[in-house]
Amino acid sequence: MRKFGFLVHPLSLEDIKRYEPGAADKGVPLIRKILEWMPPYKVSKVENVVGKTGEQVEGYFIGIGLLPDQMLELPRDSVMERILRGVDMANEWGCDIVGLGGFTAVIGDGGITVAEHSRIPVTTGNSYTIAAGVQSLLRGAREMEIDVRSASATVVGATGSIGSACAQILGNYVARLKLTARNATRLKNLARAIGPHVSAAVDWTTDITAAVRSSDLVLTATAATSSLILPEDLRPGAVVCELSLPHDVSRRVATERPDVLVTEGGNILMPGEVRFNFDFGLPKNVALACVSETMILALENRLENYSVGRGINLEKVLEIERLAEKQGFRLAGMRAFDKAITDEQIAQTRAYARSARAAAPPQPMSAGGASQ
Ligand SMILES: NC(=O)c1ccc[n+]([C@@H]2O[C@H](COP(=O)([O-])OP(=O)(O)OC[C@H]3O[C@@H](n4cnc5c(N)ncnc54)[C@H](OP(=O)(O)O)[C@@H]3O)[C@@H](O)[C@H]2O)c1
Repeated sequence: MRKFGFLVHPLSLEDIKRYEPGAADKGVPLIRKILEWMPPYKVSKVENVVGKTGEQVEGYFIGIGLLPDQMLELPRDSVMERILRGVDMANEWGCDIVGLGGFTAVIGDGGITVAEHSRIPVTTGNSYTIAAGVQSLLRGAREMEIDVRSASATVVGATGSIGSACAQILGNYVARLKLTARNATRLKNLARAIGPHVSAAVDWTTDITAAVRSSDLVLTATAATSSLILPEDLRPGAVVCELSLPHDVSRRVATERPDVLVTEGGNILMPGEVRFNFDFGLPKNVALACVSETMILALENRLENYSVGRGINLEKVLEIERLAEKQGFRLAGMRAFDKAITDEQIAQTRAYARSARAAAPPQPMSAGGASQ
């Protein structure tokens, strides 16, 4: 049977305490030090991944025991060494392809260096994450009665691997598209590159707050390790689709903005009854899109470097969407802030949004073009 490997890492100290209850009584500096020393390890064996075509694969989750901020702050070589060791372990255990989860795909060059050193094909899973993120945002807009064709959208983390492709796709759905992140040069170059190829008026800014304030639809895909999207900055009745892991939407939005719909963008409902043998904190048979992409490629016997590098090929986004459908993978029900969103909650948010929009002063129309 074909096998896949997938690298995972804790997103927060809470994650570590959930996986390893013994950590609860240890101080944070000690936990962080232990993580720095910890070599890659087998987290679990994933069994019974059966696609709609009847193909079956199995795999391993391989833990890289570093928190997101440690991945960013520790010397790049030592983090990369650990990622490469994890990829080697996948190879030693007979895996035919390996996926890079979370910040193991963010560090460095979006998987290019890892793919160069790996003896098995590599994917970041970003193509399916992009497809799922756009689908989730559009589903949220439908639920919240937003006319996408006349809407303003912002992509936060727009110059990233995921953000730049989401921006290109959304640019043909919405009226105005704002690109935002920290680096002005990269934003300017991206706006120049995609502007002529999309129907939306494209604008960029390093002022994330201003971008969010001007948008009906917000998609986040950043490598930030703290909250960027705050309740006071969101438009009445806005929709936020969050791909960033760790999350960059403040948990205060849940309690302070009943008129705003936040939805995690990358959750996929798998076919059949998979056994992850590990608790990701997601419902049964639900996996992140990046893990799903790795499994779909294994099911399809597409054993090749798939989503690597910062410039994701939009053809691959369309292709993986097709392959996902063929194998019975689809968007899972909406979730936010670690909980499922019920139909009643969506109806309630919609009602709050109608009132909030009606009470809000008219928004000035923003013209396209560069800004800072
Ligand atoms: N939900 C899922 O299934 C799934 C799957 C894969 C990845 N992800 C997550 O998606 C996110 C993006 O991944 P990626 O591979 O696209 O990363 P990437 O290529 O490194 O891009 C990161 C983007 O975020 C911006 N950024 C970084 N730090 C920031 C900060 N502090 N404030 C504002 N912007 C910041 C970067 O631009 P500047 O440096 O110019 O700011 C860049 O635009 C990560 O959180 C990753 O874990 C989720």
